[in-house]
Amino acid sequence: MKMNTDSSQRKDDHLELVSASIVEKSQKDHRFFYEPLFGKHPRKKDLNNCWRIPFLNYQLKAPLWISSMTGGSEKGRLINIRLARAAKKFGLGMALGSCRSILHEGKIREERFEDFHVRSHLGDNLPLMANIGIAQIEELLNKKEEGLVENLLSSLQADGLIIHLNPMQEWFQTEGDRYDKTPFETLKEFSAKATYPLIFKEVGQGIGPKSLKALIELRPYAIEFASLGGTNFSKLESLRSSKEQDPLLFVGHDIAEMISFVKKSYPQEEERKNLPLFIASGGIVNFLDGAYYLQQLPTLNLYGMAGQLAKRAASSEEELFDYIERELLSLMMSSQFLEKKIIE
Ligand SMILES: Cc1cc2nc3c(=O)[nH]c(=O)nc-3n(C[C@H](O)[C@H](O)[C@H](O)COP(=O)(O)O)c2cc1C
Repeated sequence: MKMNTDSSQRKDDHLELVSASIVEKSQKDHRFFYEPLFGKHPRKKDLNNCWRIPFLNYQLKAPLWISSMTGGSEKGRLINIRLARAAKKFGLGMALGSCRSILHEGKIREERFEDFHVRSHLGDNLPLMANIGIAQIEELLNKKEEGLVENLLSSLQADGLIIHLNPMQEWFQTEGDRYDKTPFETLKEFSAKATYPLIFKEVGQGIGPKSLKALIELRPYAIEFASLGGTNFSKLESLRSSKEQDPLLFVGHDIAEMISFVKKSYPQEEERKNLPLFIASGGIVNFLDGAYYLQQLPTLNLYGMAGQLAKRAASSEEELFDYIERELLSLMMSSQFLEKKIIE
């Protein structure tokens, strides 16, 4: 419908749109108190100085984390470049997708290296994290080739490594890896040797309370939840192989549950302040999910998105930039007029 800016037309538009603008009670978002009295409207110019979030030796300008996605193909390269440029424009931290395809026979393969080599697009003032699966870490340790990760990080000018834990995904992937050691044994051995920052994450299934506590005790720099409720790589692999849907695909934990697990394992407010950083992710549909989870734990100051950003990045750089700008403006708006309820 064409909108008129003329005032009398606006009045007519109101009358015409009355029925369409009813919000059903069932659509109400129960997570917030709406406080219309104490905020101000944000402006685009505020985007640059609204947030300062410490991450490694950097200061992020917004709490949105670009979660691990891609690389290893022409399309992946284009998406990584667009994501890196968006990160630079808005001051965001960025993760690469699995770099497995460029680690081969103890060396870094030149072929497809450029798909991941986005530091020049990101600039020098923001964090870039490489990404590898736990199965590759097990393999590197077995072959005593763990030094290769350091070469990878320096070639990519990356600041650290994200290790994804994905037993379910590997199980459903036709050509998937099988673990000979438990991921915990592998991570314990690897963490003791790594001289660079580590982040641990799942790939869309979340992490249960015992595993989450064990990960925290390995003292990584951060843990990204990658919870159940959004893109799920086990399901994706099972769709790729057109297998029947397996009930194992629906097991896992959402972000609120994972926050609760941490709170129950560390009941004292004081001890929560010394936990690793947490990135709430997996099923974040928009800024309002982000707004809800931010600061539910003292060190939870970022929320991550993959699927939603991948869609826009695959379409065009302009669409990606517009999308992020709208999301961050709305996040600012929500911080002015909403108070969230606390997850216990
Ligand atoms: C296209 C795409 C590729 C992904 N590739 C990786 C990957 O290589 N490594 C990884 O750790 N996670 C990968 N993920 C998982 C995401 O990092 C994230 O944990 C998961 O998608 C849940 O977030 P979402 O609901 O916002 O998509 C990928 C996700 C998408 C959408």
